[in-house]
Parts: sequence; structure tokens; C-alpha cells
Amino acid sequence: MAKAKTSYVCTECGAEHSKWQGQCAECGVWNVLTEIVVEPAKASAAAPRHAGYAGAVDAAKVTRLASVAATAEARSETGIGELDRVLGGGLVAGSVVLIGGDPGIGKSTLLLQMLGTIGQRMRGLYVTGEESLGQVAARAQRLGLPLDGLEGLAETSIERILAEASAGKPDVLIIDSIQTIWTELLTAAPGSVSQVRESAARLVRFAKQTGTSVFLVGHVTKEGGIAGPRVLEHMVDAVLYFEGEVGSRFRILRAFKNRFGAVNELGVFAMSEKGLKEVPNPSAIFLSAHAQPTPGSAVMVTREGTRPLLVEVQALVDASALPNPRRVALGLEQNRLAMLLAVLHRHGGAAVFDQDVFLNVVGGIRVQETAADLAVLFAVQSSFRDRALPDKLVAFGEVGLSGEIRPVPNGEERLREAATHGFSLAIVPKANAPKKPRIGELEVVGVDRLGDALAAAFQR
Ligand code: TYD
Ligand code: MG
Repeated sequence: MAKAKTSYVCTECGAEHSKWQGQCAECGVWNVLTEIVVEPAKASAAAPRHAGYAGAVDAAKVTRLASVAATAEARSETGIGELDRVLGGGLVAGSVVLIGGDPGIGKSTLLLQMLGTIGQRMRGLYVTGEESLGQVAARAQRLGLPLDGLEGLAETSIERILAEASAGKPDVLIIDSIQTIWTELLTAAPGSVSQVRESAARLVRFAKQTGTSVFLVGHVTKEGGIAGPRVLEHMVDAVLYFEGEVGSRFRILRAFKNRFGAVNELGVFAMSEKGLKEVPNPSAIFLSAHAQPTPGSAVMVTREGTRPLLVEVQALVDASALPNPRRVALGLEQNRLAMLLAVLHRHGGAAVFDQDVFLNVVGGIRVQETAADLAVLFAVQSSFRDRALPDKLVAFGEVGLSGEIRPVPNGEERLREAATHGFSLAIVPKANAPKKPRIGELEVVGVDRLGDALAAAFQR
């Protein structure tokens, strides 16, 4: 028998290496390479195709793209609006979606609810490797889902799962969780990187061949030995992360990668005793309720995915006892904060080099766009000077190194969102300000220098 080929995968970033080394050459993290066995290539029998599914993998030949009719993705709505939004408009036949998140965040609940709502129109199969069918049924009952349309399978062997799925031909297949699934072909322990990758690869092939929409649940873990979702990210069509703050009932579903839709799209849910409820208009939940304006708090309009959101950012600037004052940013990029503080010093006249600066985005949300810059600096300046910003103020805009305020995409949409939520003053990049200085009750001030922006915010 030929010797099995091995290679080494980074459990942090998924990069593959031919030799073992102490540090991953891609992401630079130490002691994260694990050995995987590479399966010898074998012709796999094609699974039976679903009627009407066009996305087949036939023998390849070189073809001019102009002569290929682009296949419109066949989409079907799940009935859960926030999930559809994050998926980019509904389920795509033959797609593989990975849902990652901490244990207990609600991944199983969300997928079970989805199966319940699509059960009338499509056939779903829920494969559980973690809970017994009795537990799943009890949860479905408690969630008030119609049990009739639901099919379950308690199984962890990929061979048997695929045999059942090929026979039953579900439209939607849920694997909860991929870390419990193993294949007989490999001797590695279930949950190891090689088992998880090989099982996922088989499921991806099954999805492409049959047109089944496959959902993989993956726990995010920190311990070595158990493969986290990172090693699967490049194999699947979409990666959604389910996030939430400890103690908060709000859950955010974020598209991290999506071949069929916008990344950074957010879906917002609230966990209740009756399962996950959609929050279709989430703007208000990311604002904390202050009785009166408080120093260190600023509201921005960020645009995550395809909708604007009002989000509060809080700063605490306090004299530091350390030789290297702390810069801590939760929900924002740390390096960007350091850069913004330097701009604030040079162009805003606030020297915070001897101050600890803590920054937090309310509601456990992560803001990745540069449009947050201006509000971040307002919050920092407000805490540093111990002066509250005016009531009902919003701000957005990118701040450049030379102190200029740069325009951001979709300014008008952001302003309308602020106006809808009763804000009365917006400080925004000049290029984003409309010709008329008012949108309803909202007064819009356009600025193009940081100094002007600070003056507009604090001299009222
Ligand atoms: P679960 O979906 O099992 O999480 P995951 O699959 O991501 O590990 O969710 C479990 C948590 O959700 C658990 O702590 C209880 C809570 N929960 C509710 O609050 N209400 C409900 O109706 C359900 C089903 C779960
Ligand atoms: Mg679960």
C-alpha cells in the first residue's frame, strides 16, 4: 500500500505547509501547525442529481465565457428575513454555508428554526452529532415548530450521512456540528483537522453534485487539537459568524465571506425563551440610553453590509500610571486608534500621549469601516476634555493623516437614517453634505478639516 501523504495545516488561518515548522509562515502564530493526512485521489461516484439543478460538475473543457449562459442562482427564501439578508437574498441551491460561533450562542437554534419555517416548501434534514434526536425534538417542540416537516438523523459517520442524504434527497442538509463528523478513510481522531477537512470536503462535493444547500455548524475554539472553522473557510461558499456579548440577549450574524452576497452584512436577532426573534430595525439597540449627554460618548452612522446602523462609541481617556499608556479598542481596530490619536494631537491640539485610552463600541458590534473615524475622535476628545457632545449629535467621516475629513460612501442614506431616528445635528464630510442644510429636523454641517469638525461639535 502506498504511504499516506501528509501535510501540515495552520489551525489559525488554514494555510497549508508541506513541512512541519514551529511558526505558521502565513499568519506568524506559533505552535499551530497540525499534521493532516491527504487522501489519495480517488474517482468518487457521482451522487444522483436533483431534478432541475443546473450547477453540475461535468467533465471540464475550455469554453469561451461569452458562449456560456450565466446561471442565475436559484434562490429560495428561508422565511427568516435577517438570515436571508446575510445570505445575500436567500438560500442558493448547491451552496455550502459555514456557521461559526462560540458554543451556546444559538447556532443550533437558528438552523432548527430555519428548517421549521422552510419545512412546508422544501425538504430538510437535520444531522446532529452532538445531541440526541430526543433533545432536538424537544427543542423543536419548545420552539413551537411544526414537527411534521422535520427530519432528523443522529449520526457522525460521513459515509452513513451521505448514504442517507443520497437516498432521502433533502433540499437542505444541516450538519451540527462538523467537528463531530469523521470518515472511515482516516485514522485520525474525530475533531482533528484532517477529519474535519476531509468530511467537509466530502459534503462540499455532495452539495455541488446534488444541488443540496448544506449548512455546517462549526464551534470556534481556542484549544489545539479540535479544528476550528478557520481551516474550513476557504472550502465553503459562505462563512457566517454568530456573535453576541456575554449577558446580552442580542445576537449578530455576520457574513465574513459570501460568494453570493455582500460581506459584512449583518443580521440581528434577540434570544428569547421562544428561540431567536428577528430584529428587523436594529439601529436603536446599539445606542445606550443616557438620561442626559455624557462625556466620552458619540454616535456614528456606520454602514455594515447594505444598511445603515446607528452605533454608539464610548471612550475613556484617563491619566496613565504606566510608562507605555494603554490603547485598548473593543470593536474597532487597535492600530487605527493609535493613528487617529496621532492625528488628534497634530491637527486637533489634544496631547494624549500620557493618557490611557479605552474605546468600546456599544452592543458587541464590530465596526470595520473608516467612516467611524470622526465619531471615534469626538468620543476621545469628549472624554479627554470631560465635555459632553451636544444631545442628538451624529457624526461619520474618514480622517486622513493630514487632518482632512474624507467623504464616505452612501452619505445621504446615512443622513436619512439619522433623521429617521430623531437626531438633530450631523457633522459629516463636506462632500457628503447635501446642498440643503437640513433633512427634516436634522441639521447637517459639512466639514473638511478636523479642527473645523471639533469646533462644530464642541463650541455649541
Ligand atoms: P444553541 O442553539 O444550543 O447554541 P449552539 O448550537 O450555538 O451551541 O443555543 C443554546 C443557548 O440558547 C442556551 O444557552 C439556551 C438559549 N436558548 C434560549 O434562551 N431560548 C431558546 O428558545 C433556546 C432554544 C435556547
Ligand atoms: Mg449546538
